[in-house]
Amino acid sequence: MKIQRLHPLVYSAVELLVSSQLIHFCGTDERVYPGLTINNVYGEFRFSPQPSLAAKDDSKRLSGFEMRDYMKKFADNYLEGVIRYGFHIIGVMRPNNNSSSGWNVRVEDVRTKQQQTLTFDRIVLCTGGCSEPYIPEEISPKSAKHASFKGHVFHSSQFRTQLDKLQAEGKDERGFGEVVIVGGGKSAQDVAAYLANKGVRSSVVFDKADAFLAVTSPLPDAIRRSRFLSILSPHSSLNSRLERFLHTTSLGSTITHFIWNKIIAGSFDAAGVTKDSPLRNTQDAFWGVRINDEGVPKPNGFHMLVKEGKIDIVAPARVASYSSDGESVILNNGGKLKADTVVLATGYTSSWHPLFDEQTAAGLGINRHPPGPSLVKTEDEWNNYVSLSNPPAAHPSSEQWASSIYRGIVPAKNLFNRDFAINGAVFTTNNGYAFEVTAHWISSYFLNDSNLKLPSSPEEALAHADRNSAWLRKRYPDMLLWANESYSSNLAFWTWPQVIDEMLSDMGLKVYRSGGSWFTWPFKVIELKEIEKLKEERDELRSKS
Ligand SMILES: NC(=O)c1ccc[n+]([C@@H]2O[C@H](COP(=O)([O-])OP(=O)(O)OC[C@H]3O[C@@H](n4cnc5c(N)ncnc54)[C@H](OP(=O)(O)O)[C@@H]3O)[C@@H](O)[C@H]2O)c1
Repeated sequence: MKIQRLHPLVYSAVELLVSSQLIHFCGTDERVYPGLTINNVYGEFRFSPQPSLAAKDDSKRLSGFEMRDYMKKFADNYLEGVIRYGFHIIGVMRPNNNSSSGWNVRVEDVRTKQQQTLTFDRIVLCTGGCSEPYIPEEISPKSAKHASFKGHVFHSSQFRTQLDKLQAEGKDERGFGEVVIVGGGKSAQDVAAYLANKGVRSSVVFDKADAFLAVTSPLPDAIRRSRFLSILSPHSSLNSRLERFLHTTSLGSTITHFIWNKIIAGSFDAAGVTKDSPLRNTQDAFWGVRINDEGVPKPNGFHMLVKEGKIDIVAPARVASYSSDGESVILNNGGKLKADTVVLATGYTSSWHPLFDEQTAAGLGINRHPPGPSLVKTEDEWNNYVSLSNPPAAHPSSEQWASSIYRGIVPAKNLFNRDFAINGAVFTTNNGYAFEVTAHWISSYFLNDSNLKLPSSPEEALAHADRNSAWLRKRYPDMLLWANESYSSNLAFWTWPQVIDEMLSDMGLKVYRSGGSWFTWPFKVIELKEIEKLKEERDELRSKS
């Protein structure tokens, strides 16, 4: 079966996926609730063929509902008839143990619970890093039950369904009673802000809050949507004189850190975070990726609500267990907090593990692994990066991880099978642009385009993934320990333009697409328009080869 009516972008990405049928198992409205807005630094999340819906929010941030509507419209426009909704994937495996080609996908109809096995030639795994809740054992609903805790306990991913449940019972948010929110990430902040805006106080418990960017007036596009921030962050290769100056000379490094320190200090001030506030105890903005963009802080946003005393902060602290009194949680500092509802905003675990049995995962080579012996050699490679002197303390290398996924897209071991790829496992601040280019890379890979540069062997691909992981451990200490493996195959965070250029270069396509002169290039706005003709460009290259 061939799909004729897709837009070239989608077609190029999926044309070989459809040997029998194409299925995607999309999420639903379940996780969207009022007040959610996208928080990424680039501030845009869309694909090149379809313009963004206009954000109704004063801050011009797309809300969760608008984002959902955009995706729905995209699916209606370009994916009609190729998405099957309402199925849950139970497992992905090879047709038989000895086979190294073709895929069986075991699915369950969510309504009828009937199961069936579908067969495919190729798979693109797009399950992302935030679909499987991570719940520490000691504070799980099971532990709550064991301790005879009388209140409700649920993960932040269920917040919307819990709101719906309250509504169905004829109650409003006050029905949650006294709320304890566990975690300092964006989920905890969003839930706390939602409740505060409904007049419900909560106590948010964390060791460190996410870092954030905030400004008193919107940044010009030339700063926010250009390469400016990306060159202030060192990349594994420094391709311009300016980057080499900023990261390998003392003066450049001083300038780099001066700008970062200004950005961070300015963010606290813009969000009204006082000098003695526990919200100062954040993740490291330069050395980490646990950072959200607040833009111009909204009066009804988390930081402002904390400032107004509408949200209680309990930090630094962790929730350790449930009290035997049945009505409170115990903190690791010995404290106790009364709770009718405990929201576990404790993050996510890998979405890959439930899908692959041990044998399939091993055959595919998808699992991450301890850092390889090349560790010392590769880490030496970046010794001249002055801007990376004085990193924060990190866990020892024996406790670290390396990804096994080449370019964050293809399990190195499966390189030559050309029947499995991943999109969405790269942690980035420009999802739309990054995932669209990745779709083209995958298409080139599946189509066996001769111009796509690939390593000469699975071993070389694995060494590449190891080297990249060594770089990420140096650049972002401990971040591979935080982000689960289904969204940390690569971290294309501040430096997403450099990572995209690597993919474009692999395909033999033009890089530095935003253009500009030797002086203006860092400030040229990167637009999706630059990549809207990638299919045609690839076709042309293919016709010449
Ligand atoms: N509006 C949006 O765009 C939006 C909304 C929500 C989430 N997100 C994104 O989704 C991703 C996941 O975010 P998330 O907030 O769900 O997860 P997260 O960033 O992984 O945060 C989990 C938090 O729970 C804490 N935690 C775990 N166990 C704890 C305990 N026993 N006591 C106290 N704290 C505990 C963690 O602290 P430790 O690290 O110290 O263990 C961490 O602060 C992020 O990339 C985020 O930016 C975006």
